[in-house]
Amino acid sequence: MPILVEGLGRLEYRGYDSAGIALQRKGRLEVVKKRGRLGELRAVLPKRHTATAGIAHTRWATHGEPSDRNAHPHLDASGAVSIVHNGIVENAAVLRAGLAAKGAVFTSDTDSEVLAALIADVFAGDLLAAVRHVLCGVVGTYGLAVLHRDCPGEIVIARNGSPVLIGVGEREMLVASDAAALIAHTRQVIYLEDGEVARLTARECHISDLAANVTQREAATLPAVIGDGDKGPHAHFTLKEISEQPDALRGVLRGRLDRRFSTARLGGLNLEPRQLMAFRRVKLLGCGSAYLSATIGAAMIEQLTRLPADAESAAEFRYRNPIIEADTLYLAVSQSGETFDTLAAVQEIQRKGGTVLGIVNVVGSTIARQCGAGIYLHAGPEVAVVSTKTFTNTLAALALLALFLGRMRDVSPAEGERLLDALEALPDQVQGLLDRADEFRRLAARYAHYNRAYFIGRGAGYGLAREGALKLKEVSYIHAEAYPASELKHGPLALVDPDTPTFAIVPDDDLLAKNLSSLAEIKARRGPVVAISHLASIGEADALVTVPRSHPLLDPILMLVPLQFLAYYAALERGCDVDRPRNLAKSVTVE
Ligand code: AGP
Repeated sequence: MPILVEGLGRLEYRGYDSAGIALQRKGRLEVVKKRGRLGELRAVLPKRHTATAGIAHTRWATHGEPSDRNAHPHLDASGAVSIVHNGIVENAAVLRAGLAAKGAVFTSDTDSEVLAALIADVFAGDLLAAVRHVLCGVVGTYGLAVLHRDCPGEIVIARNGSPVLIGVGEREMLVASDAAALIAHTRQVIYLEDGEVARLTARECHISDLAANVTQREAATLPAVIGDGDKGPHAHFTLKEISEQPDALRGVLRGRLDRRFSTARLGGLNLEPRQLMAFRRVKLLGCGSAYLSATIGAAMIEQLTRLPADAESAAEFRYRNPIIEADTLYLAVSQSGETFDTLAAVQEIQRKGGTVLGIVNVVGSTIARQCGAGIYLHAGPEVAVVSTKTFTNTLAALALLALFLGRMRDVSPAEGERLLDALEALPDQVQGLLDRADEFRRLAARYAHYNRAYFIGRGAGYGLAREGALKLKEVSYIHAEAYPASELKHGPLALVDPDTPTFAIVPDDDLLAKNLSSLAEIKARRGPVVAISHLASIGEADALVTVPRSHPLLDPILMLVPLQFLAYYAALERGCDVDRPRNLAKSVTVE
């Protein structure tokens, strides 16, 4: 039991709304589960337990509200089978109806519970056979672990679309959806692939597919640092990760600045120059902040390569039967490397013969392995639900890629050098902004009482405005919307009033005059204006954050830092749980 509780603790960062444990002991399954944080589960767990097999889960609600009865593990009505399940059983209603017709009773609103009932229904002494049989009739995704009271010391697991790793310990086998839960016990892991099942006992791990074809797979070794449960001197993981950005940037740049040829050194792309030159278009995909960073990265790539480049939400992309072109380079952006919609988009591209590279933080994650090539972000573990340092590292990684592809085309060595210089200067410039945290705290205190806000910008500044608005709404629950500054007068201006501040991205670039006239339009409606700019004074702004200059392509990195602090301190002012915002999970491994 202590291993399970400790493992759940290491997964807390992913966001959840209930937690539970099932233990197998003396021919019985005992389940304890509770809505709320892990502390509430701990309070009702038995003090001592001698079980040698168990499963545990933190749930993030999809089907059915967060509650004790909807928490995992689920038991079938007879108490013979217990399951924990990540994913969605899409045909749960049909399966439920079939079981209900035979008299089965359900006690939760979840789609997952049906799996326990089905396995119990077909079990005839062999748990692995029963799980295989049931999964052949399941439509949907699963990372599944199953206990049966009559199979002591045995756990059966299965994977389709949701990550499952087996930890090979000394005289023990462990299983988890995230390496962070295993690392304290072993660094030897076996990744289960989609369509595979496995029977685990303390000494053995037997992998096969649903048709019982056996698979032999060697264990891989996890990196020494996975997940970092220590906030150090910081009050929150969010602040820690904002503060780690200079080092994170050094991590993504390390060994990748090629001064000899004024380009980037990207060893993981696994593509020959001839293949890289054959691409006529670049398409970036991701979800949430990863998608927003991709919109800014697309602009960098387009500018330096003069190839059309754009970004799209991976979820939208995969459902519109996209045309996959052989001369398009696809890039999948993901911190966790486990986001289901991004993974599904990668698989759709590959199924149609396209080339897709991963821009991923977590080494060995599903998207990184599925792509097989790409650029690791090397930001270190990101624990807070909101992405901060991985956003800035993604921009730096995409700038490297833009430079690399650009230098194969028309970017001159001198221009390449300028970008390399600017990249090299970034960590110290970001440190300079971190040193101004007090200024940003005061700014946040001044604006935290507003209940809505606009964020505006143009070009890459619009991408940044979207990220600033997303950060603010995620952690402070202030309704924040982003618009291209040019769109204001086409509608959003109607809501500008003294109670609606606008945070404006105003770089000193070709569009400065246009941006200033947008600010004037807001001021004319008595809307408060906060500008993030290179300028030392802006008459139209009520408050101004002046950021250092960089290469124009890298401005978004420096302009983002004050917006991260704004969201962080506004959340604190409003008494919000900044590391674990309501309703959100760190990585969304379901559709
Ligand atoms: C960002 O603050 C979010 N929590 C969220 O939008 C996140 O970026 C998104 O879910 C994608 O996650 P990924 O990078 O792990 O794929």
